[in-house]
Amino acid sequence: MTTVLCPGSFDPLHLGHLDVIEQAAALFGSVIVATMHNPAKPSGMFSLDERMELIRASVAHLPEVKVESFAGLVVDAAKAFGVDFLVKGLRTAGDFEIEQQMAQTNFAVAEVRTVFLPCAPGLSYVSSQFVREIARHGGDVRNLVPLPVAEHLANRTVGGRSEQR
Ligand code: PNS
Repeated sequence: MTTVLCPGSFDPLHLGHLDVIEQAAALFGSVIVATMHNPAKPSGMFSLDERMELIRASVAHLPEVKVESFAGLVVDAAKAFGVDFLVKGLRTAGDFEIEQQMAQTNFAVAEVRTVFLPCAPGLSYVSSQFVREIARHGGDVRNLVPLPVAEHLANRTVGGRSEQR
C-alpha cells in the first residue's frame, strides 16, 4: 500500500486542508498528517497538542489517516515515517510557485518526491492566517473550518472576543 505524508502547520486545520487529506486518503490509501513543530517559530494561535487534537477530531471519519508531530525538516519526517512521497495541496498559482521550489529542493537534498493536489475550487480562498485573524476578533469561521475546530474556537471565546495568544 502507498503511504503519503501531508505536512503542515495546521494552525488551525481548515476545510481546504481537510479536502486535500480526504483526496489523499481516497487516492493513496494511507495518509500520515505531520503536524510540524518549529521551536524557533512559535505557533500563531494553537499549541502543537491542540492542533493535533483538532486534526484527529476532524479526520475521525478517515481510519486510514494517522496524525503525528515532527520537529525538523519535512524530508526527515518523510524518512522517519517511512512514507512513499509527500502530498501538498495547491490553492492558487502563488502556492504553486512556493511549493514547486520546496518540492524541487526536497528532491535535490533527500530524493523525497512531492505530489500536488489542487484543492476543491470552492475552498481556494481559505487560509489559516485569515481563520486566526477572524477568530481573534470574535468573527464567525464556521464556513472555513471543520466542526471540531469551530467548536474549539467558540469555547475559547471570552466575553464575545476570542482569547489573544
Ligand atoms: O502549513 P504550512 O505552514 O504552509 O506548512 C509549511 C511546512 C511546515 C510544510 C514547511 O514550512 C516546511 O516544510 N517546514 C519544515 C522545514 C523544512 O523542511 N524546510 C525545508 C523546505 S524546502
